[in-house]
Amino acid sequence: MEFLISRRDGPVEYLTLNRPDVRNAFNAEMIAELATWAANFRSHADGVRAVVLGGAGKAFCAGADAAWLAKIASHSEEENLRDATATSEMFRQLDELPVPVIGRVQGAAIGGGAGLAAVCDIVVSAEDAVYGFTEVKLGIIPAVISPFVIAKIGVSAARELFLTGARFPAARAYKLDLVHAVVPADDLDETVERYVAEIVAGGPAAIAAAKTLIRDVADARTPTNATRQEAVTNITARALAARRASAEGQEGLRAFLEKRKPHWDK
Ligand code: COA
Repeated sequence: MEFLISRRDGPVEYLTLNRPDVRNAFNAEMIAELATWAANFRSHADGVRAVVLGGAGKAFCAGADAAWLAKIASHSEEENLRDATATSEMFRQLDELPVPVIGRVQGAAIGGGAGLAAVCDIVVSAEDAVYGFTEVKLGIIPAVISPFVIAKIGVSAARELFLTGARFPAARAYKLDLVHAVVPADDLDETVERYVAEIVAGGPAAIAAAKTLIRDVADARTPTNATRQEAVTNITARALAARRASAEGQEGLRAFLEKRKPHWDK
């Protein structure tokens, strides 16, 4: 894998996003690697009791790679939809991993990076980490992550944060239940390991069943309700593909890459 590092240490699998130069922003290759890793997880998961998801370098994840988004925006609508669907599937696969996933967030979790935090079961955040669903600032929307994010933070906070695209500190992410522990950056690993110890002390089958139970009871994405799940993927992937391909989306992404303010009226 080019953009992911996976390391097994006893009962824990450490999965690290590894594009530190662009703050672990994800492109098509990283999305494919995450999806493949998640799909293979069951076959090599023997004895794995927890996954720790982190990011190399200064930040957890800066979301989708704007250069990649700008490039695919010029592709056909069908290609855009295929790509958005693959991104949606990747988030769903991570969301449904059969063991607890602990997110380890330092620096920033923005856009899809905050979406990755939302598909973790437990998130430990550095106190100086910054969060945001900033997509509208780039003329796009937090589409495929929305089912997972809204499930965590609720509709009211999503209305504020998706519509303003405002950044917010770890303390707010904690209040929103997007993160579960906020600690000094130096204490991140120790706090993650405390959660791991807690999990390892529980019954593995019971923990897996509890995770499935939560998803089933929360209903909207119940695996047995395949039609509804497909509908959610369809709605979010279509919305994302359309925004990316729009003039506004292209201007927003170009402005980000050119490090200037976007001209929304053009
Ligand atoms: N896509 C592409 N490149 C990105 C990126 C993204 N989402 N996020 C950061 N980068 C690049 C920057 O352009 C910069 O590249 P350069 O070194 O060639 O100038 C490099 O990563 C480092 O970014 P920088 O902003 O200097 O790092 P920082 O540590 O000061 O701040 C963030 C980190 C994550 C807070 C900040 O990079 C950021 O806000 N990124 C944008 C996130 C975003 O809007 N995501 C939504 C995408 S839909």
